[in-house]
Amino acid sequence: MLSDIKAIADKIAPRLLEIRRHIHSHPELSGQEYQTAAYAAGVVSSCGFHVQEMVGKTGVVAELPGSGDTSKVLAIRTDMDALPIVEKAELPFTSKNLGMMHACGHDVHTAVGLGAAMILAELDCQFPGTTRFLFQPAEETAQGAKWMIEDGVMQDVEAILGLHVFPSIRAGHIGLRQGALTAAADDLEILIYGESGHGARPHEAVDAIWIATQVVTTLQQSISRTLNPLHPVVLTIGQISGGRAPNVIADQVRLTGTVRSLHPDVHQQIPDWIDKIVAGVCQAHGARYDINYQPRVPSVMNDPVLTHLVADCAQAALGEDYIEWIAEPSLGAEDFALYTEKIPGTMFRLGVGFPDKTNYPLHHPQFEVDERSLLAGVVTMAYSAYQFWQKLSGH
Ligand code: NI
Repeated sequence: MLSDIKAIADKIAPRLLEIRRHIHSHPELSGQEYQTAAYAAGVVSSCGFHVQEMVGKTGVVAELPGSGDTSKVLAIRTDMDALPIVEKAELPFTSKNLGMMHACGHDVHTAVGLGAAMILAELDCQFPGTTRFLFQPAEETAQGAKWMIEDGVMQDVEAILGLHVFPSIRAGHIGLRQGALTAAADDLEILIYGESGHGARPHEAVDAIWIATQVVTTLQQSISRTLNPLHPVVLTIGQISGGRAPNVIADQVRLTGTVRSLHPDVHQQIPDWIDKIVAGVCQAHGARYDINYQPRVPSVMNDPVLTHLVADCAQAALGEDYIEWIAEPSLGAEDFALYTEKIPGTMFRLGVGFPDKTNYPLHHPQFEVDERSLLAGVVTMAYSAYQFWQKLSGH
């Protein structure tokens, strides 16, 4: 069967390139993936999938029904949105939509999803259950998975597979990790209320700017003294605003930030810990405060059994030297976590790095993809789906 999958992959390779380049040159922002979704729906419709559009706002669900009597579903998720970045990469298929760019490789993800769908549709075999492709919108804003789940895409889903491109892994290689792959990401907003006054008479006022700087400093120092150093936490205050004039003491400051963590215990501790610090500092200096702490996405937890299934498939398809076990998780975030929170899933990293030129990071205006990665992606995904159904039916 693997040789059939590889043969179909080779046959569709030119079409795959065309698909990826088309999507790359027509990027759309999160929640506005109308053209991309219609394009993806067109491709899967033409290979016989049951297609539903406008799921999770601008998402697409494409199903290949199984022949068995099981209602079990294997989901394969790819995201479709681009970023508000002006593309600086010099490509013949560079972005036609000024100020939008596929700088996170979601064009490759969509192409891999479509390629794997094309292969499974053409394979001359019947699966016992339904293979459901999820073309998800709005991953960059961490909204799309939630929208899709609210629209019922997880019904009967037994397991889910996903991928993300990675420029520091060579094209043709696959990166795998069981357990945590990405971090839990939470949003933080702190409002500090002091009392305004003349800049020359600070003793008659409560200086919200000075207190805010104490809050930021104390939070950063306290991480190393209060939280378990073996369970990493990153807190970044990315915005600070307040004040009206150079000689007027500010009565209000707003801080916003992001908090990343990997360990569930420490994740639970964080809101209380922040509250204690902010309360203590504000009380000491006579200020009031408000905190809005919003958990956004949990950590992507890769199921060990599924991760090894994908590893075995990638190894069989690509060769032993093309598998890389990822030593450390990333403190980045990925809304694929909302699926793996509910059912077993695994996300692998698809290497897209060039062997012989600069590999710019994800979200960089010069980010580029070595397109030799496409075949490794579709073959790994299609063969993993095939093997999932083989294992389920006891072969
Ligand atoms: Ni991404």
